[in-house]
Amino acid sequence: MSFINVSTDSHFPIQNLPFGVFSTAEKTSPRVGVAIGDQIVDLSVVAEAGLLDGVSGLNAKEVFSQSTLNQYMSLGKPVWSAVRKALQSLLSADNATLRDNAELRAKAFVAQSAAKMHLPAEIGDYTDFYASKEHATNVGIMFRGKENALMPNWTHLPVGYHGRASSVVVSGTDLVRPNGQRVAVKGEPPVFGPSVRLDYELEMAFLVGTGNQLGEPISLRSAKDHIFGVVVMNDWSARDIQSWEYVPLGPFLGKNFGTTISPWVVSLEALEPFLVEQPKQEPQPLPYLKDNEKAGYDINLEVQIKPSGGSEYHTVTRSNLKYMYWSFKQQLTHHAVNGCNMRTGDLCGSGTISGPTEDSFGSLLELTWSGQKELDLGGIKRKFIEDGDEVLMTGFCQGDGYIVGFGDCVGKILPAVNYDQL
Ligand SMILES: *[C@@H]1O[C@H](CO)[C@@H](O)[C@H](O)[C@H]1NC(C)=O
Ligand SMILES: *[C@@H]1O[C@H](CO)[C@@H](O)[C@H](O)[C@H]1NC(C)=O
Ligand SMILES: *[C@@H]1O[C@H](CO)[C@@H](O)[C@H](O)[C@H]1NC(C)=O
Repeated sequence: MSFINVSTDSHFPIQNLPFGVFSTAEKTSPRVGVAIGDQIVDLSVVAEAGLLDGVSGLNAKEVFSQSTLNQYMSLGKPVWSAVRKALQSLLSADNATLRDNAELRAKAFVAQSAAKMHLPAEIGDYTDFYASKEHATNVGIMFRGKENALMPNWTHLPVGYHGRASSVVVSGTDLVRPNGQRVAVKGEPPVFGPSVRLDYELEMAFLVGTGNQLGEPISLRSAKDHIFGVVVMNDWSARDIQSWEYVPLGPFLGKNFGTTISPWVVSLEALEPFLVEQPKQEPQPLPYLKDNEKAGYDINLEVQIKPSGGSEYHTVTRSNLKYMYWSFKQQLTHHAVNGCNMRTGDLCGSGTISGPTEDSFGSLLELTWSGQKELDLGGIKRKFIEDGDEVLMTGFCQGDGYIVGFGDCVGKILPAVNYDQL
């Protein structure tokens, strides 16, 4: 228990303590904080007061006044664990150090409602996997038919592509509908204009904490130690642009106009109680990917849409990260198996997390079966995302009397640029 009030439905109890970067109107320089209840602990203030001096290998004053988590993430797992322990002790109801220091408390705590959240890391590289079997199968059926829905290589390796880091934005950032080439009439040449099949993809993503040297792979056994934490991610996708451009080199402009992530990075340590078996892997993965430990996470995921002209959010998807076929550990291990060097701040998306039932499909492409059906959002119909629509994703683990959650990953789509007027 913490001396800070945390309601039982809060995503941020003392068991969570996710890291983020924030600023306030009074102090506009972004700095590192940890969420608890509806508050943020300003770690730059806590560090300045010397309350984290006991953690070895940490220059808290410097690291927590940075505008990204990169420097902190690069310190490695022993430091992350020690800081987590120190913060849990400092915030606990029976620790008087901060609890009874009214002056310091006034400086150290900021209401989340008064803070502006920033991108938590400087993301050097962004990779997106395709790790949900249900999603890959659904898309395969739509594009290739039931017979060969899953490519034979899909069950042997976590398929992925290199995405674009520059357009990864923090939750709350509006995005502009992309213009691009699409085939309006099958068999005819392409036309140019705003995407008319704009979609979301429900994903989670991990941030690499510590990387590896070029030429020195990461073993599956050590993969977890390299992962700093996890966020919810919306991999916005323009289906019409994507389907015209993706063969043979994969996603490009249909994806890189924007990717939204949630601002709070939940550590693997906070997720440890929610480890579960990942789906049974058949055929067995090659030895470098074979895992005998639990590597799935029981994280409830949800997508809600507030359609333009509507006044409230409607839940359209309920899924769970436990459906993901290839674990985060396997994704990271495979990514570096050829000696590719991962670096602090790299972001790796899971791919759309769809479950076995129709209400657990993680994209509109699947929910409306490529636009053949419509969703009813309180009387407003949708096949794909329209201008002014807001998409909210969230995730949480259900503990015994508490929740470890991810907060919101939200984004609104603005009308496309009028190209004729450029
Ligand atoms: C905690 O919540 C209770 C009940 O809502 C309220 O009475 C109390 O003032 C709160 N304490 C703090 C420190 O915010
Ligand atoms: C309170 O927390 C601080 C920071 O972790 C720690 O150094 C101190 O020992 C704690 N005090 C008690 C009484 O637990
Ligand atoms: C996977 O297997 C299919 C079918 O054998 C093949 O066409 C394709 O090139 C392979 N690679 C990828 C990335 O799909």
